[in-house]
Amino acid sequence: MPPREAATRELGQGMDRIRIVGGTKLNGIIPIAGAKNAALPLMIASLLTPETLVLENVPRLSDVRMLKRILGNHGVDVTVAGKRPGMSTEDGEDVRLTAAHIVDTVAPYELVSQMRASFWVVAPLLARMGQAKVSLPGGCAIGTRPVDLLIMALEKLGADIEIDAGYVIAKAPNGLKGAEITFPKVTVGGTHTALMAAVLARGTTTIHNAAREPEVSDLAECLVKMGAKISGIGTSDLVIEGVTSLHGATHRVLPDRIEAGTYAFAAAMAGGDVTLEGIEAKHLQAALDKLVESGAEVTSTETGIRIRRNGTPIKAVDVTTEAFPGFPTDLQAQFMALMSRANGTSKIVETIFENRFMHVQELARFGAKIRLDGDMAIVEGTGALKGAPVMATDLRASVSLVIAALAAEGETMINRVYHLDRGFEGLEGKLSRCGAQIERIRG
Ligand code: EPZ
Repeated sequence: MPPREAATRELGQGMDRIRIVGGTKLNGIIPIAGAKNAALPLMIASLLTPETLVLENVPRLSDVRMLKRILGNHGVDVTVAGKRPGMSTEDGEDVRLTAAHIVDTVAPYELVSQMRASFWVVAPLLARMGQAKVSLPGGCAIGTRPVDLLIMALEKLGADIEIDAGYVIAKAPNGLKGAEITFPKVTVGGTHTALMAAVLARGTTTIHNAAREPEVSDLAECLVKMGAKISGIGTSDLVIEGVTSLHGATHRVLPDRIEAGTYAFAAAMAGGDVTLEGIEAKHLQAALDKLVESGAEVTSTETGIRIRRNGTPIKAVDVTTEAFPGFPTDLQAQFMALMSRANGTSKIVETIFENRFMHVQELARFGAKIRLDGDMAIVEGTGALKGAPVMATDLRASVSLVIAALAAEGETMINRVYHLDRGFEGLEGKLSRCGAQIERIRG
């Protein structure tokens, strides 16, 4: 059994399936959860201080539960505030993380192989404790995903790094030293790592070609609340003045732009009128622009974004994934689902990950006509899709099958739902309240 599957069973999620009967328009309000990809680095940042970091609006996801366990292994005390009156099970959690005593600076293979982002613990452990031994995460379903640039950043900051038996052994017994770090390509994890290491380094660090993803800015803003000195937040040049220690803080996780984009595409594909509550359009502009080009109506409301498509056909639109503010790779599979029902042929180019087309063969099971040519998928839209039994290989691919199923005629059974539980909080509830016929079958 792959490690992820074994861990999923251990977390009590079993092998659930999701049954969808498609063809119903979506109408209603969907509250957007806190962003998984912001919550994970924020939780890891708790290792930087002996004081308590309180994170609000943490999504209830299996990746978050897994990271709580991984941090617990390092000695972080993790507690979750109890439910308050009026709170629904879909409201995010308030999580308190206290790393008063780091008892272990080793992140073993068994844990890191289950969640790649946990590799990022290397930075705060090294910055605060002067040492870390962290398993290399290995490849995954969407590509080889090396960590060479993360290691380069730590070496620039003065760390002595050795790779032995699948582990990165990083040492800086006299502390890290500020440096100029230039990333040859934009990397979210590289920027998170460099930031978390540089905040406790002696002197000034400049990160050039830093990732500008909102989740990077969210981490930087939280670090500032913890006492870090960072300027240039939101730009590709970050300047960090190192400090000797950080303190506790309270920070609210920003809303999940990928969850929001997914439901926006679902509404456009199935048709209907859906308001996504709590999301800021500026975090999702490239995706919303493509949605408008495809014929959906998108308007900003006081509380979020409203997506409508009633009767107008879906136009074929080309997309190329790029680092923020470009079109996100994490929405590529979902956009492909939408384009598979368009009037005409579209080209979707994936520039971030080399192997992120595993959904193509599953979308074909609905009758989608997609041809691959290197890093490009050529999608010949077909007027109607038909439900089918499908299975997915990664988180975003799985949800592309959900939105295809919502718009397809008849029944779809989605297997390996544990991928979805990694990144979509309360998916069935949110969609069924908009009229979708969707249910989870416990396995
Ligand atoms: C983050 O992964 C996200 N994960 C991914 O979301 C997201 O797809 C990705 O950023 C891009 O936006 C989390 O935030 C937990 P990268 P990350 O470093 O940081 C190459 C999801 O579904 N690279 O920005 O691992 C790399 O191979 C996930 O939620 C190197 O070559 O991505 C890729 O081609 C999937 N060497 C490109 O850079 C390195 O040392 C961008 O990767 C590091 C990265």
